[in-house]
Amino acid sequence: MTNNEALSAKALTLISHKLRTPLSIINGYSEAVLSQAEKENFSPFTTKALGEINKQGTRMSALVDKLMAFNQAMTADASSLEKQTVTLKPLIKECATKAISLEGDEALPTQSKEKGVKRGTFIEIDCSTQLTLQANEPMLRSCVCELLANAIKFNTKLEKIIKVQGVHHGDSISISVRDYGIGIRPQDVAKIFEPFYQVDDYFTGQVTGWGLGLAMVQRILDLHHGSISVVSDRGLGSIFTLSFPV
Ligand SMILES: Nc1ncnc2c1ncn2[C@@H]1O[C@H](COP(=O)(O)OP(=O)(O)OP(=O)(O)O)[C@@H](O)[C@H]1O
Ligand SMILES: [Mg+2]
Repeated sequence: MTNNEALSAKALTLISHKLRTPLSIINGYSEAVLSQAEKENFSPFTTKALGEINKQGTRMSALVDKLMAFNQAMTADASSLEKQTVTLKPLIKECATKAISLEGDEALPTQSKEKGVKRGTFIEIDCSTQLTLQANEPMLRSCVCELLANAIKFNTKLEKIIKVQGVHHGDSISISVRDYGIGIRPQDVAKIFEPFYQVDDYFTGQVTGWGLGLAMVQRILDLHHGSISVVSDRGLGSIFTLSFPV
């Protein structure tokens, strides 16, 4: 790491820490006051305003957490990375449950014209219960969670089908996440791994996030001497594949 990179990383850590405390106070107090709304007979305007403060505060906390996680991955050292034996299927299941529970707040507006279609997000998991991988567990978890969050977020369908597959093939183990969402044009595919890049013709300010998720996933794969690849096209959805050497 160069001196400038070390300085930027230090600045990011400091900024994240400094923002965390006031944000948790804003979120904690707004939630506490909001819980009194009925008892104290707040006006609809006051209740709405408090709800919005709490929602945006929670959103900002998530942004700060993401910034910290990105910074941690960028400054981690491959030679001293702690690895464990991770059983993939339960990890994928946990990430799927988390991704579905966080859905809604971040998603692009859904296509209301798709009438008669089932609503909801359905994550299918195809992975042997025996499949294990030597990896840094929290980092692996973030990778799968990031890919699932994207598969849900960049998808305007009412019924979102996502397929996650874990396979051991030859000398590698791969985890792929397939969605049938908006997809990515060929000219954008290489750029989406750059930090802070978000494809902007559908980025209307409604999509939250930093554009850091994939840059972080790529860094984590580098730390594991693995790789990430994507097959996608506009309108057809995407398949992101993480590949780990065995
Ligand atoms: N599954 C996907 N389908 C379509 N576009 C995608 C998909 N995944 C990523 N992208 C595009 O790649 C960009 C970068 O993705 P990345 O995960 O790094 O950032 P983000 O999701 O916008 O923000 P963050 O992850 O920081 O919350 C996205 O903004 C989006 O334009
Ligand atoms: Mg993302």
